[in-house]
Amino acid sequence: MHTSSTRQIPEVGDVPRHVAIIMDGNGRWAKLRRLPRVAGHRRGVETVRGIIRASIERGIEYLTLFAFSSENWRRPQEEVSILMDLFMRALEQEVAKLHQNAIRFRVVGDLSRFDPRIRELVTAGEELTRGNTRLTLTIAANYGGRWDIAQAARRYYRAHRGALEPDAPLDVEALAPYLSMSYAPEPDLFVRTGGEQRISNFLLWQLAYAELYFTDMLWPDFDAAALDDAIASYRARERRFGRTSEQLQPAAEQAAAR
Ligand code: IPE
Ligand code: IPE
Ligand code: MG
Repeated sequence: MHTSSTRQIPEVGDVPRHVAIIMDGNGRWAKLRRLPRVAGHRRGVETVRGIIRASIERGIEYLTLFAFSSENWRRPQEEVSILMDLFMRALEQEVAKLHQNAIRFRVVGDLSRFDPRIRELVTAGEELTRGNTRLTLTIAANYGGRWDIAQAARRYYRAHRGALEPDAPLDVEALAPYLSMSYAPEPDLFVRTGGEQRISNFLLWQLAYAELYFTDMLWPDFDAAALDDAIASYRARERRFGRTSEQLQPAAEQAAAR
């Protein structure tokens, strides 16, 4: 179990332990080339492969990718079907490779609306890779940050049914284990490609103290060098978690400054 960044200050290293990415801009990438949107989504899948590899090389332990939001059902039916197809094919073709590379695979989101075949592949993939420790790759599919908090509350009350006093307080530490990513520390670095500067109902709870990084680069163009730029920006930040800058300086430096 990982404690919340608002309760306990996590250790901060040069490389973010957990990177969470909103992979945006596939459609615009395709449009710029006068290609159908699906071409952008296909290229986006290739980008995912490259970023997984680059994340491992850089020592990132958790990589979380937003693949389909709970709001993306609003897209034209045809695009939704294409995205579901791509997801299914990626599951069929990539999970074995993930396992060969010692990657633990997880999916978060409300899978109840998905095709049973997708649900089976997800369960099988999670089962196959559960013991792997090199990188934890989480795909957020039909995920919404508000859904996550609501489902955590529902599961909390279900687990404590009968044992709760009517006025029992529900605090941060009590709810955290029921959130869908309770197996991971909170993201250190959040990246959004595609130029938009918004969270779009991604990990609302878990991003409480993440460093935010936005780039205009479209997702199909995002490569290892672009990831390095994001990490360089992350390194230049001072993560205070509510403290003052002075509190973060080592004692010797503080003495020298006096
Ligand atoms: C992100 O790219 C992929 C998904 C949301 C599935 P978009 O499809 O949102 O690309 P743009 O924003 O239209 O360029
Ligand atoms: C966010 O991208 C969701 C994913 C990348 C899966 P969108 O392109 O759907 O976001 P909005 O709706 O423009 O904010
Ligand atoms: Mg978009």
